Amino acid sequence: MSTETGIKRVAVVGTGVIGASWAAYFLAQGLQVSATDPAPGARERLTEAVLRHWPTLVESGLETGASFDNLSFHDTLEAALEGAQFVQENGPERADLKLALFARMDAALDQNVVIASSSSGLLMSDVQAACRHPERVVLGHPFNPPHLIPLVEVIGGRRTSAETIQRTLDFYRAIGKRPINPKKEVKGHIANRLQAALWREAFHLVAIGAASVSDIDDAIAYGPGLRWAVMGPFANLHLSGGEGGMRHLLDHLGGPIESWWGDLGMPVLTPELKQKVVDGIDTELANRSDTQITTERDELILAMLRAKAAAASIP
Ligand SMILES: NC(=O)c1ccc[n+]([C@@H]2O[C@H](COP(=O)([O-])OP(=O)(O)OC[C@H]3O[C@@H](n4cnc5c(N)ncnc54)[C@H](O)[C@@H]3O)[C@@H](O)[C@H]2O)c1
Repeated sequence: MSTETGIKRVAVVGTGVIGASWAAYFLAQGLQVSATDPAPGARERLTEAVLRHWPTLVESGLETGASFDNLSFHDTLEAALEGAQFVQENGPERADLKLALFARMDAALDQNVVIASSSSGLLMSDVQAACRHPERVVLGHPFNPPHLIPLVEVIGGRRTSAETIQRTLDFYRAIGKRPINPKKEVKGHIANRLQAALWREAFHLVAIGAASVSDIDDAIAYGPGLRWAVMGPFANLHLSGGEGGMRHLLDHLGGPIESWWGDLGMPVLTPELKQKVVDGIDTELANRSDTQITTERDELILAMLRAKAAAASIP
């Protein structure tokens, strides 16, 4: 697979939650995957995770040549990088560790190989600092679980080349991902900041007793969340403006929206608030199994992705 980009072998560095999910996805796309992780038992955990993700990937459609047999695990980083044409890094989210890991990968790899980091919040301008070839270091931030969610945020650091960004976007697109390329490095990137904005108000509303945890989950999951899974917040706002679209909506409701912004909370995660939210989720999900919820969530996401792919007007 991925003949357009010429990439056939991907190294997956760090095979925890995110690395294992990426590995399963790359395999399903017909790629060779060479993985590494220094933790004891990592090889067995990776095998178990890939096999667990495989039925979902079969259901979403395997590419030609996709096989679990294309997975190899290596005890050293350098062995995993040998022959790799693209690297997806998924080590722990610690700046010092990532900096050292990137310097070591950079020293081992041919200078044309892109090294993409899954980092949730670190800036590539920092991560690439100790590399001889910082121009090939880029953010490739997935959303959990990467074997299912199409979004990947591709963002360069100060020294990342435009060519690297383009090649990374091309690669992710060629394997069925939906990459975006925000132009500015900001803490937490884009999608996590949007989530954080919503969580901030959700925690605030629980803290002041305005709503329960399950009220808030219902308000999103049976309200705007249904629309947001179809289209983003701006496209939805445009449709809310009727014939006048976004312009009318902003002229008409912009004032009230601004006044709500002025009233939003800034909660602090005190022990009391944490306990309130833990108790709230225990009540909401009592007598339901997390495993079953996860399975059904993934099936619904798959069904939604299929339906979206068939809807021609949806952006
Ligand atoms: N969990 C999420 O929801 C999520 C989502 C998107 C991105 N991310 C990002 O993905 C990365 C991995 O997160 P995770 O949730 O999979 O964490 P994790 O703890 O599950 O996995 C991290 C793995 O890195 C391994 N590791 C430790 N030192 C290493 C080294 N020197 N070289 C290679 N591997 C090493 C660990 O043994 C572990 O298996 C982080 O940068 C995180 O910010 C996480």
